[in-house]
Amino acid sequence: MQPHGKHSDYVVWQTEPYNGEPPAALLRQSLVTPLDLFYTRNHGPVPEVDAATYRLSIDGLVRASRSLSLTDLREGFPRVTQTTTLQCAGNRRTDLLAVAPIPGEVPWQDGAISTATWGGTLLRDVLAEAGVDPAARHVAFMGLDHVERHGHDVGFGGSIPLAAALHLDALLAFEMNGAPLTPLHGFPLRLVVPGYIGARSVKWLASLTLQPEPSTQYFQSHAYKVFPPHIGPQTVDWEQGLMLGELSITAAITTPRDGATVPVGPLRVEGYAMAGGSRTVERVDVSSDGGATWQVARLTTPRQVGVWVFWEADVDVPPGGGEIVARAWDSAANTQPEDIRAIWNFKGYMNNAWARVNVHRL
Ligand code: MTE
Repeated sequence: MQPHGKHSDYVVWQTEPYNGEPPAALLRQSLVTPLDLFYTRNHGPVPEVDAATYRLSIDGLVRASRSLSLTDLREGFPRVTQTTTLQCAGNRRTDLLAVAPIPGEVPWQDGAISTATWGGTLLRDVLAEAGVDPAARHVAFMGLDHVERHGHDVGFGGSIPLAAALHLDALLAFEMNGAPLTPLHGFPLRLVVPGYIGARSVKWLASLTLQPEPSTQYFQSHAYKVFPPHIGPQTVDWEQGLMLGELSITAAITTPRDGATVPVGPLRVEGYAMAGGSRTVERVDVSSDGGATWQVARLTTPRQVGVWVFWEADVDVPPGGGEIVARAWDSAANTQPEDIRAIWNFKGYMNNAWARVNVHRL
C-alpha cells in the first residue's frame, strides 16, 4: 500500500501535485476499477473541504442563482448510480514521447484511464430546477483547488456544451464505488462527464455557471488544446488550437507488454478500448504482423456509452517475433490513425494512434 491508499504497484509520477497511474494489466482485471488502482490527475494540492459548510453555487444564465448544500443535492433530487470511465487527455503520451520530446508534461503510459460506479445527482435535474435561460449554450465549472500558473492562482475549471450536459447524463457525484468520494478524487462533490476528456470532470466542485460561450478558464482556453505537429512552444498562438472535449476512439494492449518474450503457440492478447461522446466501441482489430493481416478481437464486456470495453484475441506470433497491433472502431465508423507522427502535438494530448507492442518468440 502507498500514500493515499494506492496499490503497491501504482506508478507515482509526482507527489506534489499527486499524479499516478496503475500498470494497465492490473486495470484490465475488472470492468470497475478498485479505488487503490484508479489513476489520479491533479494540477494543484488536494483541497480540504468541510462537508458541513460546503455549498455548490449555480449562477449565470439561470432564473435564480442557487447555493446548494450536500443535503440539498442528496435529498432534493433523484439518486442515480452510473458506471462511467474517465480517461485523461494525456493517456498514452509515452508513445508520443518516443517520437519527439514533450517537456513539462506527465509521461503517462496507458493507465491514465479508469472506471467507477458513481453515485450522485444528474446535472440536468439540478439545471432544470435552477431554470436555464434559453440564451445559455455552455455550462462552466470551477473547482475549489488552487492551481498556480505563471505566478497567478488560476484555479481549475472548464466547460461543456449545455446540450452535452443534458444528453450525456453528466453526473454531480458524491460517491465512487459505493463509498463517499475520497479527498484525492474530489470529496465532497465532483462532476463526471461521460465520453469527455477527464479534465472536464471537475473535482471539488465549487460552481456551475450557465453562459453563452465556452469557459475562458486557463484549463479550457489555454491548456488542453491540440496543435498541429509543426507547432511548438515557440511558435504557438494559444488562441488557435483545437479545444478538446469529446474523447476520440482509442485502444491499448495491456498484455503482453512491449519487449516481452512469448512462448511458441497461440498467444492471448488483451486490452481495452474507449470511444468518445455518445459513441460506443463497435469492433477491435488485432494484428501480429505489424498490420499486414488482421483478425477481429472478442469483446468481453458490454458496449456501453461512456464505458470502456475489454477485448481479447488469440494470435500466432511469427518465428523471430513480431509487432502486435490493435485498433478500435466506434459506432460512427471512426478508427485510429496508423502513423503516430500525423497526430503528434507538443502538449502530448489525445494519442489514439494504433497500439503497438513488439514481442520476441522463444
Ligand atoms: N478537477 C480539479 N478541480 N482539479 C484538477 O486538477 N484534474 C482533471 C479532472 N478534474 C482536475 C480536476 C483531470 S485532467 C483529470 S484526467 C481528472 O480530474 C482525473 O480524475 P481522478 O484524479 O479522479 O482520476
